[in-house]
Amino acid sequence: MTKQCRVTTSEIKAMKRKGEPIAMLTAYDYPSARLVEEAGVPMILVGDTLGMVVLGYDTTLPVTMEDMLHHVKAVVRGTERALVVADMPFMSFQVGPEEALRNAGRFLQEGGAQAVKLEGGVIMAETVRKIVDAGIPVMGHVGLTPQSVHQFGGWKVQGKRPQGAIRVMNDALALEQAGAFSVVLELVPTALSTLISKRLRVPAIGIGAGPGCDGQVQVFHDLLGLYGDFVPKHTRQYAQIGEAIRTAVAEYATDVRAGRFPTEDQSFSMDESALAELLTTDDDDSATNGSRRPAHLSIPALPPR
Ligand code: KIV
Repeated sequence: MTKQCRVTTSEIKAMKRKGEPIAMLTAYDYPSARLVEEAGVPMILVGDTLGMVVLGYDTTLPVTMEDMLHHVKAVVRGTERALVVADMPFMSFQVGPEEALRNAGRFLQEGGAQAVKLEGGVIMAETVRKIVDAGIPVMGHVGLTPQSVHQFGGWKVQGKRPQGAIRVMNDALALEQAGAFSVVLELVPTALSTLISKRLRVPAIGIGAGPGCDGQVQVFHDLLGLYGDFVPKHTRQYAQIGEAIRTAVAEYATDVRAGRFPTEDQSFSMDESALAELLTTDDDDSATNGSRRPAHLSIPALPPR
């Protein structure tokens, strides 16, 4: 039997050359990863957004390597074909290139991912180079980098003014030079992201960066109406799965309360002779202690020694 091969970073880069738009989506667990792959998405990001949409934190900052590895492993188990990119959490790569390389390696060795993503541009170029030189594909991430949300003073569009625009452009180019196989542009004006996408040879994957990028990435829970706390402007909700779940669960609870669930369809039968034996035992029991318990509460007699 031939083993199904996963999409490679070379294939992702070739998609840009061929002008094929790249659809990327996050996934955080086995069932969502399966669904995303079955829907034909070639590249899945196990984003540290899981801190917000799965674990309920206000930001991505509390997410740890162990949290990420736990979810990366589940996503890898749920996929055969998709390229799985593991997001490096806060403080797993900022301290220095050595530590960044060790943690990136864990995502491939323990997690089973095929690539890692990390936030930061020029300042992270040396780190990206070190990881790439070790044979680990890296996706860069510039513009609004959520792990620096406190430094940015909120979730603000980056590169609206000349100085900021030059910074975002230089960050993206530095990552390409350092060997990144693609770069995420987050919350960047359309005109700037279009220009950056044209300048880069590797794919620019946008989120809140308009239609001029080579690909798009979105958060699973945003796209499907599963995260009620906040819907970003850059998201289009393709379904209201949260509402569907709420309705279904309420129906289930109503059925339980009304005695409509379970019915015979969801129950199991037993051998009638076994039941008859139990009832006989119950009769013996009532004869010795004088009480008559309902059959379903009777205590089976101990076997003779
Ligand atoms: O963590 C994440 O999901 C991300 C995307 C928003 C690009 O970094």
